[in-house]
Amino acid sequence: MRAHGRERTLVAPMNPFAPLLLIATGAWLLLAACGTTSTELDSTMDPHSHADPLRVRVTHVDLDLELDFTERVIRGAVRLDLRRDDPAAPLVLDVQGLSIERVMGADGQPRKFQSAPEADGLGGALTIELAPADTSVRVEYATTEKADAVQWLEPAQTAGGKSPFLFTQGQSTLTRTWIPLQDSPGVRVTYSARIRAPKGLTVLMSAEQLGQDTEGAFRFRMDRPIPSYLIALACGELAFEPISPRCGIWAEPSVVKRARAEFEDTESMIRAAEDLFGPYRWGRYDVLVLPPSFPFGGMENPCLTFATPTVIAGDKSLVSLVAHELAHSWSGNLVTNATWRDFWLNEGFTVYFENRIMERVFGPERAVMELQLERASLLREIEKLEPWQTVLHIDLEGRHPEEGFSGVPYTKGALFLKRIEAAVGRARLDLFLRRWFDGHAFQSVTTAEFRRSLAADLPEVAGRVDIDRWLTEPGLPPDAPDPRSPLLAAVDSQAARWRADRSADSLQTAQWSTQEWLHFLEGIAPDLDAASMARLDQRFRLTEAGNAEILCLWLRLGIQHGYAAGDAALRRFLTEVGRRKFLEPLYRELVKTDAGRAKALEIYATARGRYHAVSRKTIDGVVGWDA
Ligand code: BES
Ligand code: ZN
Repeated sequence: MRAHGRERTLVAPMNPFAPLLLIATGAWLLLAACGTTSTELDSTMDPHSHADPLRVRVTHVDLDLELDFTERVIRGAVRLDLRRDDPAAPLVLDVQGLSIERVMGADGQPRKFQSAPEADGLGGALTIELAPADTSVRVEYATTEKADAVQWLEPAQTAGGKSPFLFTQGQSTLTRTWIPLQDSPGVRVTYSARIRAPKGLTVLMSAEQLGQDTEGAFRFRMDRPIPSYLIALACGELAFEPISPRCGIWAEPSVVKRARAEFEDTESMIRAAEDLFGPYRWGRYDVLVLPPSFPFGGMENPCLTFATPTVIAGDKSLVSLVAHELAHSWSGNLVTNATWRDFWLNEGFTVYFENRIMERVFGPERAVMELQLERASLLREIEKLEPWQTVLHIDLEGRHPEEGFSGVPYTKGALFLKRIEAAVGRARLDLFLRRWFDGHAFQSVTTAEFRRSLAADLPEVAGRVDIDRWLTEPGLPPDAPDPRSPLLAAVDSQAARWRADRSADSLQTAQWSTQEWLHFLEGIAPDLDAASMARLDQRFRLTEAGNAEILCLWLRLGIQHGYAAGDAALRRFLTEVGRRKFLEPLYRELVKTDAGRAKALEIYATARGRYHAVSRKTIDGVVGWDA
């Protein structure tokens, strides 16, 4: 990504104990801090937003939108309520590929506005001149084909095959492609919405559902302040199956029963989470299972986690994804990374928390097994990353947040908390985390604030763990915990047995879970060839695996070792599934040879139109697609 040649903006001080005194002097801000160092101030700047929330801040977003499936446009208006700390300052919003039609002040009269050119993958600034009495503005707008948050699906891309479908994905910086607002995780807003959709379709949002009004429009309200990346919408033919009074599953009618059975332990997970780290503060917790083009495994949209159907394995083996997205209700949604360089505060805490939930609900054997697999995969990934990408408190100046996305904030972040747990004991860490969530509830926090809290609440960590090394240096520190699963050790013995005769016949795999299969296949990967893959396939039918994790790994090994029998399954998988985590390694493996690259381009030519922009962007880069 190229450098973003523009001024940095500031998000407001999140720490109530470190108030900032702000004096705006002409074009530049003079900052004077009480008890805050300039490095800490620096770390609250959000280089990925054009907004200037210290002067004018959006506090509430009220949407009135129509979903036009024929034109593939979302159009309507948004009212933004404002807090004006600098009465002379204009309102600066983030916009990307939006068509802005009119802007009105609080009196309903037009206001002047100016759009800066959009250049750098982060959109541009929309600057609105405010009248003295403007406590709100109303922006009339429509999305364009550049609305990368939004994916419009053909009926053929759904399970039902009859109705179209639509969903949005905001994180990290895509909300600005469908709503003009201050798109920084350091700016929190409440929101309300009125959404009109074609008859027969259901609209859902990451908020409390208020039902349909007399005109059939769907109404929503989120009365807790959230960062903009959590505003999300989906629309399609949807059905609901309850799990408990506050929890249930949304999915297409033909999927919803299977999905409910897979996720039936969700209420137990909520209880385990509450028991660990305090009350669930968002009212309902529902999961929406999307069509397979959803580009992520899951997305923690408040009240309504969005999830890929590829975790429905039939045996609950991949439900740690729900534990993960649920955990974000504390780490991420309640206490939010203030900028994307603090992303590890969202994901590292969440992976740690997810594992604690899994331990409670499914037992320590399962939890340790999952952690060992994640650690192994982190080590493989670190080999391929540049050193700067392996730093927890990552430097994203001049880079897109996407460039900081890897297993590092997730697994290195979780291992850091595990390391602290080893140093002070679980009871002390749990108290710390409880205080962290309660003391920063509905706030956005920086890594500097984490350091302060750690020093204040767990002072003994400083003498036992090299905090600086963990946060600011590349790679995995030598004191990183290395949990070992006895179940996976047993799998290692089977792998050794396989290595001895390369035969599939003597392997004992009867009770293997998904995780054991993944560990086995990763373990024997370097020693495979097409003939031994054929023997394994004959006995275990891996090419027909209904489990997307196992299938994806098996297909990648097939490409790597020239096992042609997987070809049809590979094409089908790459066409139907849009989850980036699966697509990227498969396309990467394909483009390693000339024949593979040709195949990749041929498949991608048909599949590309079925992927969400998030996956498209990544795969364009992998296969060298000239969009
Ligand atoms: N919040 C993330 C997804 C995300 C991160 C979207 C950054 C856009 C930018 C979500 O909680 C997540 O981590 N999903 C994982 C699954 C999880 C079990 C590790 C995924 O999608 O693979
Ligand atoms: Zn996450």
